[in-house]
Amino acid sequence: MKRIVIFASGNGTNAENLIKFFHNREMASVIQVLTNNPHAKVLDRAKAYKVSGLSFNRVAFTVTDDVLHLLKASKPDLIVLAGFLWKFPQKILNAYPNKVINIHPALLPKYGGKGMYGMRVHEAVVKNKETETGITIHYVNEHYDEGAIIFQAKCHVHETDSAQDVADKIHELEMEHFPKVVEDLLHE
Ligand code: GAR
Repeated sequence: MKRIVIFASGNGTNAENLIKFFHNREMASVIQVLTNNPHAKVLDRAKAYKVSGLSFNRVAFTVTDDVLHLLKASKPDLIVLAGFLWKFPQKILNAYPNKVINIHPALLPKYGGKGMYGMRVHEAVVKNKETETGITIHYVNEHYDEGAIIFQAKCHVHETDSAQDVADKIHELEMEHFPKVVEDLLHE
């Protein structure tokens, strides 16, 4: 069975969707959820499915290598960033080449980079009167939102759409596609 470890910072609807999708499947399972936020709702979601959830601080992530050691013990086949807001350390990327992926709520390279996450992305899309937006699933490299693109899906933005309307459409795309893309990657 392939082992998936998820990093998330907040609500965790994508993490939960992945946990559910692979629940009781033979090919893969989400074995751990790691977060930089001890109060993140994603920890409750993991717990509800009896998936191990742990929080860590910046020192453990970037200085002492505690998180890297934790990963070494968990032996992930794929590391999935699902709404994870900290930059991923080069040391962990080096340990898992082509095994760290991220989901971004826009059509990269548009609306990516530091500070571009969640509603901020959708507000910018509406403000700029874009007629389409979407989701991007990509490999993670040392720059925010710049690794090789694996998958994109698009949706229309209507003139009357609010940022929340766009967020709802993006959420639907994420729920539909993210688990399947993860599954395909694990089959490769
Ligand atoms: C998702 O829309 C994800 O694409 C986005 O954060 C949201 C997390 O929602 N990620 C980024 O903006 C990364 N730059 P969730 O916690 O409910 O899964």
